[in-house]
Amino acid sequence: MSIGKNIKSIVEEIPYKIKDINLADQGRKAIEMAEKEMPGLMAVREKHGKEKPLAGYKITGSLHMTVETAVLIETLKELGADIRWASCNIFSTQDYAAAAVASTGTPVFAWKEETLEEYWWCTLLALTFPGGRGPDLIVDDGGDATLLVHMGYELEEVYSKTGQIPDIETDVEEERVIETLLRDVLAKDAMHWHKVAEKLIGVSEETTTGVHRLMQREEEGTLLFAAFNVNDSVTKSKFDNIYGNRESLADGIKRATDVMIAGKVVVICGYGDVGKGCATSMRGYGARVVTTEVDPINALQAVMEGYEVTTLEKALPEGHIFVTATGNRDVITLDHMRKMKDQAIVCNIGHFDHEIQVAQLNAAPDIKKENIKPQVDRYTFPDDHQIYLLAEGRLVNLGCATGHPSFVMSASFTNQILAQLYLAKEKPKIGVYRLPKDLDEEVARLHLEKLGVILTELTDSQADYLNIPKEGPFKSDHYRY
Ligand SMILES: NC(=O)c1ccc[n+]([C@@H]2O[C@H](COP(=O)([O-])OP(=O)(O)OC[C@H]3O[C@@H](n4cnc5c(N)ncnc54)[C@H](O)[C@@H]3O)[C@@H](O)[C@H]2O)c1
Repeated sequence: MSIGKNIKSIVEEIPYKIKDINLADQGRKAIEMAEKEMPGLMAVREKHGKEKPLAGYKITGSLHMTVETAVLIETLKELGADIRWASCNIFSTQDYAAAAVASTGTPVFAWKEETLEEYWWCTLLALTFPGGRGPDLIVDDGGDATLLVHMGYELEEVYSKTGQIPDIETDVEEERVIETLLRDVLAKDAMHWHKVAEKLIGVSEETTTGVHRLMQREEEGTLLFAAFNVNDSVTKSKFDNIYGNRESLADGIKRATDVMIAGKVVVICGYGDVGKGCATSMRGYGARVVTTEVDPINALQAVMEGYEVTTLEKALPEGHIFVTATGNRDVITLDHMRKMKDQAIVCNIGHFDHEIQVAQLNAAPDIKKENIKPQVDRYTFPDDHQIYLLAEGRLVNLGCATGHPSFVMSASFTNQILAQLYLAKEKPKIGVYRLPKDLDEEVARLHLEKLGVILTELTDSQADYLNIPKEGPFKSDHYRY
């Protein structure tokens, strides 16, 4: 996709790009339902709506454009922010949610089933405000908006030092798409990303994989602005990653295949937070769950929960359903898929699609691919065994279903808002930050009433005995929950 004559023209010509604005009414009804299930975000609106602490701040979002995200966007707007938004996955947009948000005048660039070119073009448009300037703050999920700024900046550095635009060397399709887009921007303004980075106060990052990317940059000394690790708030990773996936994994597999899970052998690769939620879910349906792990602590946790822990190679002959949840790459290889049972279902719930060797699977000349329906493909191998790949190896819960339920996303997104408020107010120096314990506890507190929970209060003597304030924080920072 073209980015126009110059950086300015990117935004002047296109108010939004979504599938169909006529879906807005339908989207609005779903958003209204979600609001009732998102008490944290509604409480933030009530608390900060009047004072508008984000007034004057331009925020770019790169996060699944779902109904729940619409509630997040509208909360940020109510706090005064000027928003532009893209999804962080080519399959995760709920078109009616995008339409409802776009119809209120918020520039949204997202639709279900984008190509990679369209996806990165959308990310660029979300990062480009009128006049060609960048955002003050980013809400990121997986780090793609942050990546584009950093890669653009690094390309400009090379160009300004050498006067040369380096050739694109990678064979990875998505990397080629990004590199091509950045060269297009460079041709229009050779200092665009330097100007963007200079203005950026910081990013708040939603997920484990995005946080890994940020920590890596911090370690290398290449991080260009402050970053807020939302994932490691207890009220995010110990809820969204566990209980969110506990519901949305099954939703994705069921909508895609209608398969009976009871009695099947489900192999979960990775027994971290997401893996734990997936394993409990599948066991709840009556599956026999096998897990794989590299970390002895997680492996011990899995076996103490009663799951078999073995290697993927050993699990291949018996597995009916395979789920990757590692945040790592090449966990299910082409060779593994060649050895799977006939009719095995393969999917990924980790952030990126390279947990499964999908590119290698698609490129193999001896394997036939047939599309069964959107986001469900059948592959036939030379020995006639067939496997089903869901959502082309991308997040199955967002590609084949609609992601986590609203209630758990309320906890995650309340953390996102608190992170944005912190960044806007404190303008911290470059580094990776986390929410303080008292605010983490506050996020949980905001979600208790809706569920009818009645908390016990410490007596004065109990608080003295434990040597903690009566109103919290109740735990030390190293407590693991
Ligand atoms: N789909 C969703 O809605 C959703 C929600 C939250 C997080 N995520 C993503 O899910 C992924 C996992 O997140 P998490 O919070 O559980 O991370 P985590 O670090 O808690 O867990 C990942 C686990 O995988 C294990 N692992 C790594 N390489 C492995 C390998 N080769 N074989 C077996 N195990 C291996 C690690 O030891 C770790 O225990 C990340 O990419 C994260 O961004 C997705």
